[in-house]
Amino acid sequence: MNIPFIDLKSQYARIDSRVREGLDRVLAHGAYVMGPEIAELENELASFCGAKHALACSSGTDALLLALMARNTGPGDAVLTTPFTFCATAEVIALLGATPVFVDIDPVTFNIDPDRLKQAIQALRSADPDVYPLPSQAKAAVAPGKGPHAPSSMPYAPHAPLVPKGLISVDLFGLPCDYDAINPILEEEGLWLLVDAAQSFGSSYKGISPCALGDTACTSFFPAKPLGCYGDGGMCFTNDTRLHQVLESLRVHGQGKNRYDNVRLGLNARMDTMQAAVLLAKMSIFPEEIELRNSVAGTYNDLLQEARDITVPSFFRDRQSAWAQYSVLARDRKHRRAVFDILQENNIPWSVYYPLPLHLQDVFSYLGYSSGDFPVSEEMSERIFSLPMHPYLEQSNQEKVARAVIEGSRR
Ligand SMILES: Cc1ncc(COP(=O)(O)O)c(C=O)c1O
Repeated sequence: MNIPFIDLKSQYARIDSRVREGLDRVLAHGAYVMGPEIAELENELASFCGAKHALACSSGTDALLLALMARNTGPGDAVLTTPFTFCATAEVIALLGATPVFVDIDPVTFNIDPDRLKQAIQALRSADPDVYPLPSQAKAAVAPGKGPHAPSSMPYAPHAPLVPKGLISVDLFGLPCDYDAINPILEEEGLWLLVDAAQSFGSSYKGISPCALGDTACTSFFPAKPLGCYGDGGMCFTNDTRLHQVLESLRVHGQGKNRYDNVRLGLNARMDTMQAAVLLAKMSIFPEEIELRNSVAGTYNDLLQEARDITVPSFFRDRQSAWAQYSVLARDRKHRRAVFDILQENNIPWSVYYPLPLHLQDVFSYLGYSSGDFPVSEEMSERIFSLPMHPYLEQSNQEKVARAVIEGSRR
């Protein structure tokens, strides 16, 4: 039998009666939109994460969009983030007319590098790309009228100078960022923190969920995520009651006192009640699944010790990953290809997150970044690959995967 990359069937076999009971309850009461399961889920997940408020919504992307809208993010705002992430993280910044400003990552954690973050903020404040690579819009601010013109792919007219407003940190593959290093930098600069915890729901940093760490945090319940529903879903978390009220309004077309009182531009970004019922059922086994994911990752690390020039992910004493992915590094692109050949021969699936950093993607070409601007992200994209990872991965299958990686690594 083939080894699945993610095994939702084994998970369903454990909770099928709970899922069906939950869905039956929704079918019986018929409140398919904003039914009682939505508030139940929000309460349960807020308390699970230790956040004051949780707001269920239509996807992880919409959660990020809502969080940025709640801060009135728009043209002229610079939002710092990593180029080594799923496109949604930077896409939402650009959709609102703000400018993504990329900061390179740490090669061990794959998360934003706090030292580079400091440099990027300094470069933005002084509009000096010699301090750190900046988007052309920020460089244009040095000499108005003399900077590069915005190419036609840029969705909004440039508004120089750019003002740094906040950071979207991404806890890549489930591992929380180094928040003790990041937070003082943001505090000193008066910037907000939005945690993109799409991959790290269930992880912890010094015992605290990253969903309780930022001014706002967002997660995704896409089926492949550590906690996934059976469609699209997401959630915003905040300890700020006023911000939560704005998020509630934005989720439903910027509504005010009632449905036909519209006080701001918003979205239709509600979560379906059926998805909330699925998530409630899955929460009954979720903490155990996080432990299982950690043990699968530990076993992989042990098994892969014999692989040649394969760098396995690190475990940290101060944080526990949710292991959304188990990602390793080959020596280089050719070495990675040799491993893929053996994985393919053995019908073992793999994935590359992410084959091209965002600053080199066509969609962000209008920012004017170049190859070489974020060398760590660029190198990682050539060396990284992810192996099957889920809580139900048997040791025998892990051994099969590891054997193939070891063989490929020695070619
Ligand atoms: C880091 C990151 N941010 C945002 C998202 C967007 O989440 P969704 O697919 O639920 O819109 C994802 C999903 O893959 C992600 O991995």
